[in-house]
Amino acid sequence: MKSDTFRPTVIVIFGATGNLFRQKLVHALFDLFEAGHLPSPLRIVGFSRKALSHEEFRMQIKELLIAKHSDYSKDALEAFVSLASYEKGDIHELDTYIRLSKILSGIDHDAGVCMNKLFYLATAPELYRPILENLSASGLTIPCAPGTPEEKMAWSRVLVEKPFGGDQMEAEKLDMLLGKLFSEEQIFRIDHYLAKETIQNILTFRFSNGLFEPLWNRDNIDKVEIKLLESGRGKVAERGNFYDNLGALRDVGQNHLLSMLALVAMENPGRLDGEAVREARVKVLKDVRPFAGRVESYASRAQYEGYRKEQGVASDSTTETYFKLKMEINSKRWKGVPIYLEAGKELPESKSEIIIYFKEPKVCICPPNRGEHSHENVLTFRIQPNEGISILFWAKRPGFEFGLDTQSLSFSYRDSDSENHLIPDAYERVLFDCIRGDQTLFSSTDEVKTEWKIITPIGKEWQKIPLLIYKAGEHPRQMIM
Ligand code: BG6
Repeated sequence: MKSDTFRPTVIVIFGATGNLFRQKLVHALFDLFEAGHLPSPLRIVGFSRKALSHEEFRMQIKELLIAKHSDYSKDALEAFVSLASYEKGDIHELDTYIRLSKILSGIDHDAGVCMNKLFYLATAPELYRPILENLSASGLTIPCAPGTPEEKMAWSRVLVEKPFGGDQMEAEKLDMLLGKLFSEEQIFRIDHYLAKETIQNILTFRFSNGLFEPLWNRDNIDKVEIKLLESGRGKVAERGNFYDNLGALRDVGQNHLLSMLALVAMENPGRLDGEAVREARVKVLKDVRPFAGRVESYASRAQYEGYRKEQGVASDSTTETYFKLKMEINSKRWKGVPIYLEAGKELPESKSEIIIYFKEPKVCICPPNRGEHSHENVLTFRIQPNEGISILFWAKRPGFEFGLDTQSLSFSYRDSDSENHLIPDAYERVLFDCIRGDQTLFSSTDEVKTEWKIITPIGKEWQKIPLLIYKAGEHPRQMIM
């Protein structure tokens, strides 16, 4: 999309000296800018409690970009950096927002147009409430003063990072606040997994091909595994205190894993628009429940050795850094099919994937001595790394005897034609879609509530499950099957 299809926009980033901005947002913004996918004119206002001059903030951006982008254009870099300015302020003080409002009016004045306002909450979740309340109290949720020519065209939107609340009740309270202060069209709740190219491809794979959808049910599918495995500590080391209060189940289970499950299991939305897709995702999530009655039989949790020594982590912490759940969907299509959700840090390798195991044929033409062969076909969505899809099937082993071997058909984005190499980063997609007002890849209020409804009761029973300790770099043993 060309940048001129967008209206002039100011992006205000709360938490502009934090991890998310430094690791993801600044790079995503720059890539979009270089590719001409951002509106023009554009301004980026960084906001945080640290004291920084505009120049120091621009310098930080430059250093971050140079460190990561080997083949950047110098002109683009300078042009991008010149769009940024910085404001220091206390997020809890209304005065801060009144000052911000004046700064934004000044930017509008200089540009000679009332610009769209995008507020990105890249802060700790406990700061959402004061930010949202003060944005509203200071009038910042209204983009242009009444009577300005752009009054009807300009928008003001908020991008909120997960975790959205810490449990079902908190999420509902936060959502009530959001609903009071903003309309649903203004709210963009991020689950960056929904914005990953390979996750979006699940819908295309299922609903743009005739091949698999007829088999997509309990008669033909044996089990489903959804995994988000990370080697190393991931971001635990840089945000020990935050992670320790959350744990793996709430950090990635409540959102990323359930989002993947929704896309794999939902019914055909009929059309690819935000409302229909979001509705279909929520509908299936409403039927998700644990596979068995007692928590010990459907859930296991573990912590890597050494976790308690991480900075910010309690020395007697019982927070899980790994979990596995066995769930099912109480619907005609899925009832009885185990769906495993698994995630953890410090595991042997980093990979996110969804694996569908098909049942073996009812009448199998198999060699008499079939041994351990399961004769299942296995379909794998490789979300990352090596993004792609593979299908495992059985083929006759060449020769005079009847023997079977597994073979695979595999598609990899990176090996395919050059256009497909360009897999946009999830945060590029998040920013791009928010600016163009497409909510398809964002969680709806209903979706977030439903996800918490699934996870909160499990979290309440968490302490009943023994916490296993696993060696860093190894897979925990004795997990539920
Ligand atoms: C984040 C979690 O939402 O997702 C992190 O808070 C996790 O703990 C990360 O490491 C994984 O995302 P990605 O895109 O790196 O797979």
